[in-house]
Amino acid sequence: MALDLVIRGGRVAAAAKTLVCDVGIRAGRIAELGEGLKGERAIDARGKLVLPGGVDSHCHVEQVSSFGILCADDFYSATVSAAYGGTTTIVPFCAQHRGDSLATVLADYHQRAKAKAVIDYGFHLIIANPDAQTLEADLPAAIGSGIRSFKIFMTYDRMRLMDEQILDVMAAARRDGALVMVHAENHGMISWLAGRMVKQGNTLPRYHAICHTRGSESEAILRVVALAELVDCPILVVHVSTPEGIEAIRQARARGVKVYGETCPQYLFLTAKDIDIGMAGAAFCCSPPPRDKAAQEACWHGLKDGALQVYSSDHAPYRMDASGKLPKGEATTFKEMANGVPGLELRLPLLFTFGVQAGRITLEEFVQLTATRHAEIYGLAPRKGAIAVGADADLAIWDPDKKVRITKELVHDQTGYTPYEGRELTGWPVTVVSRGEVIVEGGKLNAARGRGQFLARGRSAALEPLGRQVPEMAQLAAWNTPLKL
Ligand code: URP
Ligand code: ZN
Ligand code: ZN
Repeated sequence: MALDLVIRGGRVAAAAKTLVCDVGIRAGRIAELGEGLKGERAIDARGKLVLPGGVDSHCHVEQVSSFGILCADDFYSATVSAAYGGTTTIVPFCAQHRGDSLATVLADYHQRAKAKAVIDYGFHLIIANPDAQTLEADLPAAIGSGIRSFKIFMTYDRMRLMDEQILDVMAAARRDGALVMVHAENHGMISWLAGRMVKQGNTLPRYHAICHTRGSESEAILRVVALAELVDCPILVVHVSTPEGIEAIRQARARGVKVYGETCPQYLFLTAKDIDIGMAGAAFCCSPPPRDKAAQEACWHGLKDGALQVYSSDHAPYRMDASGKLPKGEATTFKEMANGVPGLELRLPLLFTFGVQAGRITLEEFVQLTATRHAEIYGLAPRKGAIAVGADADLAIWDPDKKVRITKELVHDQTGYTPYEGRELTGWPVTVVSRGEVIVEGGKLNAARGRGQFLARGRSAALEPLGRQVPEMAQLAAWNTPLKL
């Protein structure tokens, strides 16, 4: 049977190995890898790289944030921006706030995404209201519908859960097969410091980075690992930023706890100095905050040695005006600014330039960190995340020599700024293919609103409990009175 599209002669980072070959696509899937393939259309990729489309498993889209502020991007602008940056799958959040019905929230996000997304998407849930209806009815139903990950917050007044509630969510996740993603920062440390600073008139964005101490991250990671161990529930700590936090994950993994870690562009490419520019520093305020060069090095090291498995954007787009970062204009204190930075579009190009081109990571590691591991951990494999026969034909053709200077005009999100303004990049995804359709080519988008499909995710190996019991649980089992989760 004839092929619909052949991508000819590129250096292909295929699942098994990197090789120069043609990629043959039929009916939206990769049908063949070989030489001399013929199809209805061919794209010459000689001298270029052919990589799996990125999978971004942490981004906030058309979501009401922990501050009660709606993101600047909707499902159209976010997915267009992702596509231009070589990402073909996103997994954003459906956010339950206190008092919300999870089922209603989920239906609402489905409706909005379906009408607008130009690339495929799954969902995680944010659980802020773990009542009986949520835990016993809505969560199992959501899991059954292919939403196999929930984020919980240990900080933010509107979202944070107490340890008992975190354990309830972990027990539900373990029971029905889902991964718990954790925003790990110690709320008390942050709010105690912030309260005093604001009282003393220290309200500029730079104080945000002071309040979110390194210790607040590492304390929360150590605590949540202990909670996860108690119920033998796999977890993934999102946006890890500190050497101490990474070390806590490394140690937990070394003693056999199933804990995964993620870092993001802001922790590799920004530091607290970027925030220390008066009110303009609001653009760089995210939680946890960027740290220093040593912390950047620790994040690179964690990505290399496997303490951290995934590199996501944590795209959290807010404009630098009253709709986003500055609800009270110049009088806004750091406690009132929406937290987050945009990153969907530049996630891959930044890592390509400063990781692959700089010799810090290999091309294969780049593919793992930006696509394959996301798909494996979050239950999207083998359909997404790799160039392999049978997988969806989601890929990006990269010109490894293309020079690009980052400007806010270059990116397609609705934030109105980029934290990486002026950086010089080498290497860019020039052609992007989603399920066999060329959606970005020659700098132009060719993708209809709503063409993106919802991805119901299956049970991945990542979320299987290990069957490891803490001594007290083992004792209960030995007494034949095991704890019912
Ligand atoms: O500052 C950040 N990261 N904002 C986005 C929300 C979150 O906590 O991931
Ligand atoms: Zn978070
Ligand atoms: Zn986030």
